[in-house]
Amino acid sequence: MDLQLSGRTAVVTGASRGIGLATVAALTGEGMRVVAAARTVTPEIEELGAIAIPVDLGTADGPARLVEAALAELGELDVLVNNVGGGDGGATGGFLSFDDEQWEEIYGLNLFAAVRTTRAALPGLLRRGGAVVNVSSNGARIPHAGPVPYTTAKAALTAFGKALAEEFGPRGVRVNTVSPGPVRTAMWESPDGYGARLAASLGLAREQLVAGLPATMGMITGRLVEPAEVAALVAYLASPLAASTTGADHIIDGGAIKTA
Ligand SMILES: NC(=O)c1ccc[n+]([C@@H]2O[C@H](COP(=O)([O-])OP(=O)(O)OC[C@H]3O[C@@H](n4cnc5c(N)ncnc54)[C@H](OP(=O)(O)O)[C@@H]3O)[C@@H](O)[C@H]2O)c1
Repeated sequence: MDLQLSGRTAVVTGASRGIGLATVAALTGEGMRVVAAARTVTPEIEELGAIAIPVDLGTADGPARLVEAALAELGELDVLVNNVGGGDGGATGGFLSFDDEQWEEIYGLNLFAAVRTTRAALPGLLRRGGAVVNVSSNGARIPHAGPVPYTTAKAALTAFGKALAEEFGPRGVRVNTVSPGPVRTAMWESPDGYGARLAASLGLAREQLVAGLPATMGMITGRLVEPAEVAALVAYLASPLAASTTGADHIIDGGAIKTA
């Protein structure tokens, strides 16, 4: 299927690995010119032919600097993928294990990075009749299933997407949300990621925790979601083929959530 994205431009945040990198691959594979943003520039970004812009999106001015640099590279912007996120503040416990600093850090990366990047990108997206895709989490609908600052920040991000779709839809910009369940990325696979910390707190090996995740989460597919599967959904939502899809929240979690 031709997604009719060839020659168009995109910014993908959190793009050096995982879902972000898979999204860069999907969009460059459709012939888009893509700016890929993360704190580090990985060889994988460059191999895909994307333009890497190193930036800390957890800072107040990082997102605006990114959009300015991206517009200088791309000229115009058709698609913004707010993918950056994650982070558990280093804690795996319940509500009382997170202090203000951790709440601020997690909200900074999962909510304010998207707020600030979108604010900077919107004038350009309005000129082009562009599209925004926000990467939230199915945890937004099951906030007890992960670190509470993370799941509540994602719930706010999902609501943010709906609000933007209402306000800017009449002016030609579509906004959609993608909400994955557990995806096979560094978050679960890395020996010093969230999965490893969670496993240690439960007295399990990381591999044991990850192997049991599909059953624990009720994933009908019996396996973690692949980054490329999320990226394919993002690419479709970015495409003019999805012209009637806006303000929607697309769960991609192997059937874990039974009510959506
Ligand atoms: N994996 C899952 O199970 C899962 C499930 C639901 C939702 N999600 C969401 O999907 C998105 C991507 O997750 P992922 O699993 O692909 O994550 P990941 O593998 O940990 O990758 C995160 C990406 O964000 C970048 N990043 C982190 N902090 C940054 C900062 N301060 N400034 C700029 N870039 C930063 C990282 O690169 P640098 O470290 O080089 O900066 C990396 O490219 C996140 O929003 C996450 O919450 C993931």
